[in-house]
Amino acid sequence: MSLEIRLDGKVALVTGGSRGIGKEIALTMARAGAKIIVNDIEPEGSAKTVDEIRERFGVPAVAFLADVSKQSDVQALVEKSIGTFQRIDVLVNNAGVVVRKPAVELSEQEWDKIIDVNLKGVFLCSQAVARKMIEQANGGRIVNIASIMGEVALPPRAPYCSSKGGVIALTRDLAAEWAPYGINVNAIGPGWVETDLTKDYFSQKQVRDYLLERIPLKRFCSPSEVAVLAAFLVSDLANYITGQTILIDGGWTAL
Ligand SMILES: NC(=O)c1ccc[n+]([C@@H]2O[C@H](COP(=O)([O-])OP(=O)(O)OC[C@H]3O[C@@H](n4cnc5c(N)ncnc54)[C@H](O)[C@@H]3O)[C@@H](O)[C@H]2O)c1
Repeated sequence: MSLEIRLDGKVALVTGGSRGIGKEIALTMARAGAKIIVNDIEPEGSAKTVDEIRERFGVPAVAFLADVSKQSDVQALVEKSIGTFQRIDVLVNNAGVVVRKPAVELSEQEWDKIIDVNLKGVFLCSQAVARKMIEQANGGRIVNIASIMGEVALPPRAPYCSSKGGVIALTRDLAAEWAPYGINVNAIGPGWVETDLTKDYFSQKQVRDYLLERIPLKRFCSPSEVAVLAAFLVSDLANYITGQTILIDGGWTAL
């Protein structure tokens, strides 16, 4: 077996792929030879990701808008993906949102929004894609982007931490349920990654200094470091890994 990560001929669907970690995952999997479906709710960034994939790596890529928290959107996304590439081999559940607010001040709507996108969205996409993978009868790979905050607290993020803890538990359950079909399900728990999601937060000097001091490796994670791990997990190099959450956090949770 080659030690290079290759995904030639595989079809990969990446949710939240218009920017940040999702975009980097889409680019990295395209670089490894996969055909890519970029999903997001944001059209401009999605189209840019697709253009970049085609120009840099010459593999087929399409963008399909869908809100992962709505079952009808997810159904349409999966049908359009199958209509275009006839199959789906890889799903990356990356779309996610955050709210930082004291628990006593949270509204029901804020709670629901985070859980709906980050947890229900992962379930809906996994269910719809796994149904196709089971029909295809050739196995499959699912990677969920969780967070260190599914394992440890960093207030004030009650719904975010709950959603990511849920994703880690869901990963274990789906891995066990779908192992008989050859579908491996794993999660990645990034620590602190510089993206649009964290830009404003990291720009506060006090926050930035505290985080960098607290991270044993003394730097933030790059989106491409997460993307390489995702590509490894969906490659043949990781055939025996399932039900796991791999933390990529510069040592944050080792302390
Ligand atoms: N940045 C970090 O430090 C960090 C750390 C740990 C985990 N994560 C997780 O990584 C993932 C990506 O984060 P990021 O930093 O790249 O964030 P980001 O905000 O840059 O990107 C998230 C993408 O998801 C899309 N999205 C939001 N709601 C959606 C929905 N309902 N349907 C489809 N797409 C939707 C957004 O439009 C955006 O393009 C998230 O799940 C996040 O929780 C990020």
